[in-house]
Amino acid sequence: MKIKNICCIGAGYVGGPTMAVIAEKCPGVKVTVVDINEKRIKQWNDPDVEKIPIYEPGLSSIVKETRDKNLFFSTDVDKAIDEADMIFISVNTPTKTYGIGKGMAADLKYIELCARQIAAVAKNDKIVIEKSTLPVRTAAALKNILDNTGNGVKYQILSNPEFLAEGTAVEDLKSPDRVLIGGDIESEEGREAMEALVNIYASWVPKEKILTTNVWSSELSKLTANAFLAQRVSSINAISELCEKTGADVNEVAKAVGMDSRVGPKFLKASVGFGGSCFQKDILNLVYIARTYNLQEVADYWEQVIIMNDHQKRRFAANMVQTMYNTVAGKKIAILGWAFKKDTNDTRESAAIYVADYLLNEQAEIVVYDPKVTEEQIYSDLDYLGSRSGDANRKGVTVVKSSYEACDNAHAIAVLTEWDEFKQLDWKKIYDQMLKPAFLFDGRRLLEPKTKKEIGFEFYAIGN
Ligand code: UDX
Ligand code: UDX
Repeated sequence: MKIKNICCIGAGYVGGPTMAVIAEKCPGVKVTVVDINEKRIKQWNDPDVEKIPIYEPGLSSIVKETRDKNLFFSTDVDKAIDEADMIFISVNTPTKTYGIGKGMAADLKYIELCARQIAAVAKNDKIVIEKSTLPVRTAAALKNILDNTGNGVKYQILSNPEFLAEGTAVEDLKSPDRVLIGGDIESEEGREAMEALVNIYASWVPKEKILTTNVWSSELSKLTANAFLAQRVSSINAISELCEKTGADVNEVAKAVGMDSRVGPKFLKASVGFGGSCFQKDILNLVYIARTYNLQEVADYWEQVIIMNDHQKRRFAANMVQTMYNTVAGKKIAILGWAFKKDTNDTRESAAIYVADYLLNEQAEIVVYDPKVTEEQIYSDLDYLGSRSGDANRKGVTVVKSSYEACDNAHAIAVLTEWDEFKQLDWKKIYDQMLKPAFLFDGRRLLEPKTKKEIGFEFYAIGN
């Protein structure tokens, strides 16, 4: 089967970049990305490509090349579904905030809405692809909804989880470690659908990197991959606390451990805690699924990764307060970096939100600078946490446009995102602007401790 028309529902951090790269690599395929959020679609269509809603290195130039040629952004979901041979579902699947599985299970309401909309609109056979990360066996639910509409349309459901990391999305999409495609291997139609998707990716990905499996393996592989990655971060973060007590340096330990080729060097950087839309959500999901099958030991084992991460964020903030003579009330504290990692404007589950919240509870005055995150987003993150009123968040937090402005007259600085530009700052100048003693808390192991101490900072770095 030759695919001519692709539709993607959800113009977010995954749908947007993924479809842009498919459009670039498959000029003969028309790709339409739809979203119910009108503002977001308007931003994707902004004549100034630098204003697209997602910041990813290299993304705006691809959008510039392909937009309105074979890449389209629209709010007309029905039309795009109707025209497409292949539909990617890339809507968000947040952790449930209500009912059974609250705080643990993935909320599948948007996925189900998409399925119902596809069922209502489709007039010819479609391949429907789960791009969103989903609990194991969601494909079965999707198929049930689609097959029970009685209009004779045939659907093939594939699972094609995304492994891109934000900040390097374009690079990851262009040369992925692997592409995973799960489908109904048992049936002829299932194999054909998988082949159609394999052919899309084969336009630029070497065939040996495209893996086909049954649907359940594919769905579970995504949760497992994220759980393994997050587990490495929690493991090194657990060791970072021990390093602080013993005088070992966590970077040296990580290097020594990572040089064992069986362990490998990646994802061993101690930090103030992992964030992002995936790690916590996917592990909670895994834990919830294990509990559902009554696998208590399995559930407890993976839950510990989250417990450690929460501990790391809290311990960092508590350490700040303790170091500053057990009180930060009325003290100005500069937060450098709000995004959950560098090179993205995404703030979901960012450690900075939790550290700021802790310090606000201690009545500190917070000033934030992040190179890519908007003021609106910062307030909305704090409001969403719900610890205090919107007014109190706006009173307690000021957002500024440079690191120097943030640190002026501050008692302390917390570096919470590893933006490259923070390494290049004139730290002597910053020190001179601050109240003394001037505290510098490095949650990312970004800065060189020795020179900071020489300048005069009271310096603390995770795991040092
Ligand atoms: C994705 C996946 O969907 C998630 O499961 C995965 O684990 C991480 O990546 P992401 O692209 O980061 O999520 O989400 P987001 O940036 O929130 O984009 C989702 C988009 O879907 C939003 O723009 C939202 O408006 C849109 N949406 C949601 C719809 O168009 N229709 C809906 O019914 C629901
Ligand atoms: C992750 C997975 O890497 C990706 O494959 C999947 O598709 C989505 O989830 P992402 O969340 O975008 O990607 O970023 P990632 O680079 O994995 O970082 C997650 C968090 O862990 C960040 O807050 C990062 O700062 C933190 N981290 C990462 C560490 O603290 N230490 C490390 O060594 C690595």
